[in-house]
Amino acid sequence: MIFVVDFGSQTAHLISRRIKELGVDVETVSPDIAFERATQNKPKGIIFSGGPSSVYEKGAPTIDKKIFDLGIPILGICYGLQLTAYLLGGDVKKGEIREDGPATLRLNASCPLFASVSQHSRIWMSHGDEVLTPPPKFSFIGESETIRGAAIANEKRKIYGVQFHPEVEHTEHGNLILRNFVEKICNIPTKKQTLKIEAIVENLKKTIGKHRAIAAVSGGLDSTVAATLMAKAIGQNLIPIHVESGLMRKGTTAKVVKFFTKKLRIKPVILRKEKEFLLALKGKSDPEEKRKAIGKLYIDLFQEESKKYRNVKFLVQGTIYSDVIESKGTRHAANIKSHHNVGGLPQSLKLTLIEPIRYLYTDQVRRLAKKLSIPDEIIKTQPHPGPGYAIRILGEVTHRRLTIMQKADNIVVEEMKRFGWYDKLLHSFPVLTGVRSTSVKGDGRVYGEVMAIRAVTSTDRMTADWAKLPPELLQKLTSRLTNEIPEISRVVYDITTKPPATMEWE
Ligand code: XMP
Repeated sequence: MIFVVDFGSQTAHLISRRIKELGVDVETVSPDIAFERATQNKPKGIIFSGGPSSVYEKGAPTIDKKIFDLGIPILGICYGLQLTAYLLGGDVKKGEIREDGPATLRLNASCPLFASVSQHSRIWMSHGDEVLTPPPKFSFIGESETIRGAAIANEKRKIYGVQFHPEVEHTEHGNLILRNFVEKICNIPTKKQTLKIEAIVENLKKTIGKHRAIAAVSGGLDSTVAATLMAKAIGQNLIPIHVESGLMRKGTTAKVVKFFTKKLRIKPVILRKEKEFLLALKGKSDPEEKRKAIGKLYIDLFQEESKKYRNVKFLVQGTIYSDVIESKGTRHAANIKSHHNVGGLPQSLKLTLIEPIRYLYTDQVRRLAKKLSIPDEIIKTQPHPGPGYAIRILGEVTHRRLTIMQKADNIVVEEMKRFGWYDKLLHSFPVLTGVRSTSVKGDGRVYGEVMAIRAVTSTDRMTADWAKLPPELLQKLTSRLTNEIPEISRVVYDITTKPPATMEWE
């Protein structure tokens, strides 16, 4: 058993996931009770997660210092490293500038934590503070371009710390570093774990019993997987409902109808509500307000529809763990966005929420989808966020801007596919920025809107890198977008990683 002490990092759950994938049990504990629990339960290793605070700030989460004397191996990650250094007498200071995104780790000592890790490797950073001097009897074992204290160790006491995030996919040897900690430092043998569909279905059967459940199906992979698991559990007692909001990609409704009728043999209910969504978004330009308005309308529609059937008690949603985390799913975490299916849910929900894949990440959902024989047409479609185009049209969503967005999105999808890039990316989409700039079209002046293109690679959605698209593809996109859409004056390409930027602009 390994303890993960959660200091509020967006990726604390990802640490647990990586450890569980090694076949090792994990318990997530809050910092205030960590020492007491560790004394009672005697885990074989403890990992301190990152977190949004600074160790020297008033009210920053801390831990009982006696935890370092239990003789249990400890690995501090980001804030976890800073706290370890701070509590044990090192010097932690605010860095000159924040560092979010890729960096290079250079090892300057050999130690079991870095066994088989290359001398230079890519890491993912996300920090404002840094350790300037390690605590007594600790040494710096790795550095990056910008900081000397990228990793610290006291090998005798088996206490380690890394400033970067080994749990995120963009850290090149992240999994290896975590496995080294588990196997070589905590001496726990590892074995690969798999997801069990039967166990999930059995659980759902028990929860739902003889009741009926409404499933919100967007046509995306997450809600399709959630509904398929439900169909396995309760068959015709499932009522899939698809809301045509006008904010989804072309062809989505047809795909929903085809999948549910042909594959699951359940006819979905289609609600056409484009006008209602535009009305709900009228005059709203704040992203959180837009998300909440959309969330509320969805729920109102589902509750209204549920009254038409007898015995409906549950609402099924395809929420996944990155939605939960970014909507402040844990105590010390910051709220990044209120995903409408999580933080944006209205208080008035009368149905009980069922989220069969709440604790899975995108890549796990994809694997589950393959096991469930969900067609490639759905698995390979890039995910589209619940609020859809509304969060890619910055500012107010109007009918005119929505029409521009639909045209632009079709062009981006077509060209990404034609150039063979669509399948390599988690997302590729245009953003209507709301910024206006001058262009010359047909010898006339057009003061039109600037469009941005975002294309990112990511498998777990917690971190993302921008895609190194070929210039020919960027040129083609720009030519088509400015030529075929008169209102677009210019096109820019977004080369910001996540962090610091989120994937969606809003
Ligand atoms: P961000 O922009 O937070 O996006 O880096 C991470 C992933 O979440 C999706 N996303 C959403 N999905 N409701 C959703 O269902 C939302 O409000 C929402 N906001 C972002 C985004 O498309 C990406 O895959």
